[in-house]
Amino acid sequence: MSHSKIFITRLIPDLGLALVREHFPAADIWPADLPPTREQLLEKVRGVDGLLCMLTERIDAELMDAAGPQLKVISSMSVGVDHIDIAEATKRGIPVGNTPGVLTDATADQAFALLLATARRVVEGVDYIREGQWITWHPQLLLGADLAGATLGIVGFGRIGQAVAKRAQGFDMRVIYHSPSAQPAHNAQRVDLDTLLRESDFVSINVPLTEKTRHLVNAEFLAKMKPTAVLVNTARGGVLDQTALYNALKSDQIFAAALDVTDPEPLPMNSPLLELKNCIIVPHLGSASHKTRNLMSKLAVENLIAGMDGDKLPNCVNVDVCRS
Ligand code: DGY
Repeated sequence: MSHSKIFITRLIPDLGLALVREHFPAADIWPADLPPTREQLLEKVRGVDGLLCMLTERIDAELMDAAGPQLKVISSMSVGVDHIDIAEATKRGIPVGNTPGVLTDATADQAFALLLATARRVVEGVDYIREGQWITWHPQLLLGADLAGATLGIVGFGRIGQAVAKRAQGFDMRVIYHSPSAQPAHNAQRVDLDTLLRESDFVSINVPLTEKTRHLVNAEFLAKMKPTAVLVNTARGGVLDQTALYNALKSDQIFAAALDVTDPEPLPMNSPLLELKNCIIVPHLGSASHKTRNLMSKLAVENLIAGMDGDKLPNCVNVDVCRS
């Protein structure tokens, strides 16, 4: 049991919470559903030794200054770390932990759920009934796209991209992928991005958000896709230029899109994307299963404990800091 000063920015699932209670009984846990505001966060981190945050908090130099030089570890309950200034943490020798691996299957499931829902127009079908439009079976009602025999193009072939490819095998899809370094797996064939966009009936975005991938999906990218293609983004909203996507969907340049993530989050209610029938948007639910969120919380707390003990984090993002 440690008496270190710990701040946790949200009430985390039971598996992680039990570990917190055991190791840091005096931990300060933000109790509200909404995250702390920036001001509240800067106040709460003052003097903390360890911070466990979510992807909703911006962790930058200002925040690290507010915390103070005693800050020993930053642990995020997420695999994505685009909300954290890793270079700044590294400069200060603060290890940053994340939660890869445990959410791979859940996120790949979500990509497939969205892919199927979009291809087969599930949400439009639900709306159709709710709006009282269902009069009869019709041979041409809400026709969509087949998966069997179609080509799935995966942009980014890390853990999640590969798990998407694995699922596609069960649907008899041909799989191609674009990645600068990943080796082929699950019968997927590596191709350049232009070939992927030209040949794919479905495009799944599975790259992390970095300066290189910001707005990777732009007007030019969308113009290279087939007019019958479906785009699915379960990575980060910032990878996609939403204005370009709106224009492509509105003008039927592509068939449909499904977004698990947007930029910003939450998506403003006046976003024009919300007017489109051929665009499904869900509120960043890629890892949202009971089991996965529990495992993420456990891993995030394990990273926190290791950092507080001065041990190597089970999953360290800035490995140079963890190595020393
Ligand atoms: C992550 O962990 O980065 C995911 O986006 C959460 O769903």
